Amino acid sequence: MAQFYPEEVIQEVRAANDIVDIVSEYVKLKRVGNRFTGLCPFHKEKTPSFTVSPDKQLYYCFGCGAGGTVVQFIMSIERIDFIEAIKLLAERAKIRLPEGDYRGDEAKRFEKKQLILKINTEAARFFYRCLHSQEGENGRKYLRKRMINPKTATSFGLGYAPDSWDALIQYLKGKGYAIQDILDAGLIIENKNKNTYYDRFRNRIMFPIIDLRGNVIGFGGRVLDDSLPKYLNSPETVVFNKSRTLYGLNFAKNANKNELIIVEGYMDVISLHQNGIINTVASLGTAFTHEQAKLIKKFCQEAIIAYDSDAAGQAATLRGMDILTEEGCRVKILSLSEGKDPDEFIRAKGAEKFEKAIRESKSLIEYKINLLKAKYDINDIVQKVDFVTELANIFAKIDNAVERDAYIQKISEETKISSQAILAEIKKIISKNADKGNKSLKNTREIVPEPVAIVKNSSENNIVNTRLINAERMLINVLCYDKFVFNKVRELIRPDDFSDDLHVKIATIIYALREKDEAVDPAQIVSRFEGEEIKTATSIFQIEPNFEDNLKAAVELIETINKEKNMQKIKISLKEGNVEKLHTLLIEYKQK
Ligand code: CTP
Ligand code: MN
Repeated sequence: MAQFYPEEVIQEVRAANDIVDIVSEYVKLKRVGNRFTGLCPFHKEKTPSFTVSPDKQLYYCFGCGAGGTVVQFIMSIERIDFIEAIKLLAERAKIRLPEGDYRGDEAKRFEKKQLILKINTEAARFFYRCLHSQEGENGRKYLRKRMINPKTATSFGLGYAPDSWDALIQYLKGKGYAIQDILDAGLIIENKNKNTYYDRFRNRIMFPIIDLRGNVIGFGGRVLDDSLPKYLNSPETVVFNKSRTLYGLNFAKNANKNELIIVEGYMDVISLHQNGIINTVASLGTAFTHEQAKLIKKFCQEAIIAYDSDAAGQAATLRGMDILTEEGCRVKILSLSEGKDPDEFIRAKGAEKFEKAIRESKSLIEYKINLLKAKYDINDIVQKVDFVTELANIFAKIDNAVERDAYIQKISEETKISSQAILAEIKKIISKNADKGNKSLKNTREIVPEPVAIVKNSSENNIVNTRLINAERMLINVLCYDKFVFNKVRELIRPDDFSDDLHVKIATIIYALREKDEAVDPAQIVSRFEGEEIKTATSIFQIEPNFEDNLKAAVELIETINKEKNMQKIKISLKEGNVEKLHTLLIEYKQK
């Protein structure tokens, strides 16, 4: 949030406006116990599920989930933004807001980002103009040689960095940008000895990297000949994080396809795009990350990996497959004939052949089988045995019997190994696994307690442990209200020990406030969140922890949390079929 007032001022304004007073101006409230209730102004209802708590200084609707501090209430009911709400409430309480250029760190960061994006855009324009001017002759020649037509080059914003040490510096300085900002954009490099600066990209074809909102966040630059490094990329900056970026996603997202093709490089994306295949993104090099996989998952269910067919490409494919599968993407692998990348392939063989290769892309299983086939010489009897064992291991993981049979049939025809032999091997593995699995499963069932209530939770492994979540939420409440108990148990559990992201954040705030010996109350904590998290945080503070002995309760809750976290691990290793890990965890669990 671009917040223009210091945190203390915001808290002061909030504290000066009692939530019951403010809400009463809009909603008819009735006291029930220690809170007020009324008809929710944010959704249609006949019986009241809207509550306001004077103690907590929060409102929450059990019907629609609306909730927050007095600031969110004013924002929602008056339909104004955060800053306007603060102004309105400050006026009401006769608090003078600081004037002038007082900006929070967030606002400063935001402005810096905007500035860097502006500098990048200017640089992209400069490179583009250079490509189309006299000095860009060699650049244009190179693009022709790579068979990139001018239209494609323009839609990707391709440019040329002139063969000069300071052309870009001079240009940007002329536009009034400060050296420090150009440096922070990663466009120039400091020569520390001489206290001078020079352009990072020189005599290179320039590929602007564009995010989903159309911002130029960085650049890649390619040499025109065989010199090294072949590609040079922008360093990490406040706007560019390579591991979270997919080149070409700005186009690919509009392809409206169920699958995205993942390639290695800039030229692959551009070349496929020129041939009408626009659902293509590049992972920029070979180290595919979880963040990139999450990004892909947002747009489609299936990813087709089309990396180079060299050894590095193959290793990267295997890693990429695992990462994508872990993030819940279906994965297929497109293999191109020896030594080719998608760009070379499509130039040599045309779009139709490439589309055919897409249709024929292999499933994970097939890809793994092919790798095995390449690894072993099945004419050698010893290698043949190893081959069948490894093969059976892959097949044993296929749940669907029909699918498994189809693979067995196919491989048996190809290798002339009898399907009975393969099947026998698979059965051995399956019954061995089942034995172990069943035993642990029975043990686990006996000790897995039933969830106590249904709560929403975004657990990474999709295993919701309501006992764990509820225990953490109750503990958060105790730690929030009881300073004495907090001091007693602070070393027993740290913010990072909580299992849910939001719980970690809330605990971090509580610990930080207590550290500074500041007041800790729900509204104080909730007001530090944004968006959906405000509602969830508010709902967490709807719990009333009426324990007779808070300290005893806190200690027990921490025990429950530790125990349930262990149970969570048990469930995950059960899901993964990791029997050894499961065994160790179960022993630990029983001992606790
Ligand atoms: N790459 C990089 N730095 C390098 C080499 C490669 O960042 N020194 C990244 C680039 O994004 C490049 C991708 O890895 O596009 C794939 O590299 P490579 O296969 O070597 O290049 P190609 O894309 O095939 O490049 P070209 O066709 O232009 O030779
Ligand atoms: Mn290439």
